[in-house]
Amino acid sequence: MQLPFQIDLTGQVAVVTGGSGVIGGIFARALGKCGAKVAVLGRKVENGIPVVKDIEAEGGEAVFVAANVLEKESLEAAKQEILDKWGKINSLVNCAGGAVKSAQIPQDQFSDFTGDMLNFFTTDMENVKRELDLNLYGTMLPTQIFGESMVGQENANIINISSMGAYGPLTRIPGYSGAKAAVSNFTEWAATYFAKSGIRVNAIAPGFFQTPQNYALHFHEDGTPTHRSQKIIDSTPMGKYGDPEDLIGALLFLVSPKGSSFVTGVVLPVDGGFHCYLGV
Ligand SMILES: NC(=O)c1ccc[n+]([C@@H]2O[C@H](COP(=O)([O-])OP(=O)(O)OC[C@H]3O[C@@H](n4cnc5c(N)ncnc54)[C@H](O)[C@@H]3O)[C@@H](O)[C@H]2O)c1
Repeated sequence: MQLPFQIDLTGQVAVVTGGSGVIGGIFARALGKCGAKVAVLGRKVENGIPVVKDIEAEGGEAVFVAANVLEKESLEAAKQEILDKWGKINSLVNCAGGAVKSAQIPQDQFSDFTGDMLNFFTTDMENVKRELDLNLYGTMLPTQIFGESMVGQENANIINISSMGAYGPLTRIPGYSGAKAAVSNFTEWAATYFAKSGIRVNAIAPGFFQTPQNYALHFHEDGTPTHRSQKIIDSTPMGKYGDPEDLIGALLFLVSPKGSSFVTGVVLPVDGGFHCYLGV
């Protein structure tokens, strides 16, 4: 992996939830390359081990720790395992999250409704609740559990992952958009709350990246782009999807003890301009 620039995290310990996912895995590798000891958190060891092996292959130190971000006991056990191994935690990156497929509304607008199609009125709100839980509660709970051991640590910082849906609702995914708006809001709340404790709290708001979690919304089964995919490109001033590695620079800036020591409560869009373009 090529880093856009280097920061020195030697001796620091970073925890990445969703560390076996696409963005979490890239972030874990980047932090490992900067010298941090990285705890790759995930639910399935077989998905996390390749990330750990990549970090070790680049000369870094990492461990897979099983954890479910929605279960307090699981996170408490993960924290203890990390503290027993490395004695402290400096950074927490809350990457576990995503849209829940069964919570998607299949039309952009109700006027598209064609009789027997699934629509907002037939959507099972339990699936929307799962989406809110995963993205909001799954950010707040790790912040509570790991944040407690970060108080007083050198370069203590938390990075949350928001979305373009936080700036305004994206069609079809109201639960996800609402959850990410709440993640941005929580980031600002936590930045204020922890400011005098030494913990900085910031977020990255990725634009559109082609990853497995959103593939079905953006591509047909035969690989051709959906109408939504073209609308995304047309609504992105840079006219393209991002590459997940484009997010690394924002992460390193926000984690950097030198570069962003007076930065807290920021939600940094990395989106080719999507958030500031109204279409005219
Ligand atoms: N891919 C994009 O275009 C995009 C855009 C904006 C925001 N995001 C956000 O970035 C983050 C990472 O997304 P990604 O694209 O890498 O998706 P991903 O699906 O590859 O990664 C998400 C990870 O979270 C894990 N996870 C889900 N539920 C969990 C739970 N209960 N406990 C522990 N881990 C759990 C998954 O197993 C997976 O490893 C998410 O918060 C997502 O909403 C992604």
